[in-house]
Amino acid sequence: GKFAKTFGRVTLVVLLTATGAFLYVTQTQNSPPEQLPVDTKKPTLVVLGSGWGATSFLKSLDTEEFNVVVISPRNYFLFTPLLPSVTVGTLEPRSIIQPTRYITRHKKRKVDVYEAEAQEVDPIKKTVTFQDLSDVRGAAGSVTIPYDYLVYAVGCENQTFGIKGVNEHACFLKELSDADKIRTKLLDCIETASFRDQPQDEVDRLMHMVVVGGGPTGVEYAGELHDFLIDDLKKWYPEVADRLRITLIEALPNVLPAFSKQLIQYTESTFAENKIDVLTRTMVKDVKEAAVVVQDANKQIREIPYGLLVWATGNTSRQITRDLMSKLSSVQTQRRGLLVDDYLNLLGAEGVYAVGDCTATSYAPTAQVASQQGIYLAGIFQKLGQKAKFERQLSELRATAAAPEEIEATVKKLNRAAKLTPFHYSHQGSLAYIGSEKAIADLPLFNGNVASGGGAAMLFWRSAYVSTLYSVRNRTLVLADWLKVKIFGR
Ligand code: FAD
Ligand code: NAI
Repeated sequence: GKFAKTFGRVTLVVLLTATGAFLYVTQTQNSPPEQLPVDTKKPTLVVLGSGWGATSFLKSLDTEEFNVVVISPRNYFLFTPLLPSVTVGTLEPRSIIQPTRYITRHKKRKVDVYEAEAQEVDPIKKTVTFQDLSDVRGAAGSVTIPYDYLVYAVGCENQTFGIKGVNEHACFLKELSDADKIRTKLLDCIETASFRDQPQDEVDRLMHMVVVGGGPTGVEYAGELHDFLIDDLKKWYPEVADRLRITLIEALPNVLPAFSKQLIQYTESTFAENKIDVLTRTMVKDVKEAAVVVQDANKQIREIPYGLLVWATGNTSRQITRDLMSKLSSVQTQRRGLLVDDYLNLLGAEGVYAVGDCTATSYAPTAQVASQQGIYLAGIFQKLGQKAKFERQLSELRATAAAPEEIEATVKKLNRAAKLTPFHYSHQGSLAYIGSEKAIADLPLFNGNVASGGGAAMLFWRSAYVSTLYSVRNRTLVLADWLKVKIFGR
C-alpha cells in the first residue's frame, strides 16, 4: 500500500512537471506575444542581413525605443558551422535554420521584416533602397526608405579570384541552397557512375570529388564526405564505393593556416589515413566542365578530372559594400572590407554601424566575431534608447519646474547612458570537424593555447555547437538528426 501511494505521488509529480514544461514550451516557443505598435515618434533603425551579426544583434536588442526594419534576401538565420553536415545528409536543412520572424515576433515593439535585397545605401540622404529579387516578386518594384540608424551586416560573397569557369561549374558552400545542390549533385554522380556500361575512366571521373581551398570550409567538407563514404556508400553502393576519391587542393604549403602547427599535422595525417589526397602548393588556374587545370608545386600545369567540384577559397566584399566604400572613398580605403571605429561606427557615415564579415578589422571573418559584435551593438542601442528616454524625462522635468534633486538625478542617468565602452573581442577558440568522429580544437586556456585533436575534441565540438545553436527547436532537431543517422544511416 505504501509503495503504491509513493508510486502514485511520483507519477503525479512527473505528469504535472511534464504538462508544465509542455505548456511553457508551447507558450514561449509557439505562441508569439502581443507587441507594441510602430511609433512614428521613435527613430527608425534599419538592419541589413539575417546572418550571425544581424541575428545576434536582433536577439539582444531592446526594440522599445526604435522602429526596427529588417531587410534580408534570406528570411532565416543559418547556423553555418553545421552547414557542411547538410551536404551529405548528416543533418537536415531545417535543423540548422531559425526564421527571422520567430526572433522579431518575440520583440517588445513590432518589427517589419522584408525578404529583399538592399541595393543601395545612401549615407548622405540616409536612405536604403531595396527590392524583392526572389522567384516570386509581385508587382512592387524597388523601395527606398529613410533611416535614422543603420546596422550593416550583409556578410561577404564567395571569392573566385576571377578564375574562369568557377561560377559555371563549381558548387560553393555558403548558403543552404549550396549544401542542397552539393547533396543532389553528389548522389547524381554516384548514380551515374553506377549506370550500366559506364566506361571505367568515366566512373573514375564521376567518383572523383575535388575540393578547392584548404581553409576550414574545405577541410570540414572533405571530412563529412569521407564519413558518408565509410558509413553509407560502402553499404548501399558497394559496386562503386571503392572508386570514390577525395582530393583537397590548397595553394599554400599546408591546410588550415590559421590553426596551430600540431593540429595542421594532425589533420593532414588523419586525411592521409582516410585516403583523402591533399595537394598542397597546388593552385587551380582554370575550371572546365569536367576537369580543373592546376599548377602544381613543380610549376607543372595539368588537368584533374572531377565529378563534383566544391569551391571554398574564402570571401570577398559584396557589390553593395564596394559601392558604399566608393561613396565614402576618402575614409574607406581598405579593399578587404568596411572600416569601422572602436564602437563599430562606419567611418564617414553618421548613424551607420557595420559588423561581421563585411568589415575589415584585425579579427578573422568568423561567426564568433560577428555574433560578439552584434551583441555589443545591441548594448550600444540599449544606451541610445536610454539616452533618448532620459532626455525626454529631463525636458518634462524642466518644463514642469521639478525639484532640482530630481533633475540632477536624471542628468546623472543621462550621462551614464551617454558613456560608451569600445568593442572588445574575446576569442573562445577555434574548432573544426575533420571526419571519422574526430575534430580539432585550438583553445585559449590556462593563459596559453591548448591544441587538441581526436574523439574528445569531437565531443567538445558537438557539445559546443549544440549549446551555441540559437533555439530549443534547433537543438532538438540537431540531436534528433544525429541519433537518426546512428540508427538509420544518412
Ligand atoms: P552572414 O552570416 O553571411 O550574414 C549575411 C546576411 O546578409 C545574410 O542573411 C544574407 O542573406 C544577407 N544579405 C546578403 N546580401 C544582402 C543585401 N544586399 N541586403 C541585405 N541583406 C543581405 N565561423 C566560426 O566562427 N565558426 C565556424 O565553425 C564557422 N563555420 C563556417 C562554416 C561554413 C560552411 C561557412 C561558410 C562559414 C563558417 N564560419 C564559421 C564563418 C561564419 O559563418 C561567418 O563569419 C559569419 O556568417 C559572418 O556573419 P555575418 O553576419 O557577417 O554574415
Ligand atoms: P579561407 O580563406 O579560410 O581559406 C581558403 C583557402 O583557399 C586558403 O587557404 C587559400 O590559400 C586557398 N586558395 C585560394 N585560392 C586558391 C586556388 N586558386 N587554388 C587552391 N587553393 C586556393 O576560406 P574558408 O575556409 O571558406 O573560411 C572563410 C572564413 O570562415 C575564415 O575566416 C574561417 O576561419 C571561417 N570558417 C571557420 C570555420 C571553423 O572555425 N570551423 C569553418 C568554416 C569557415
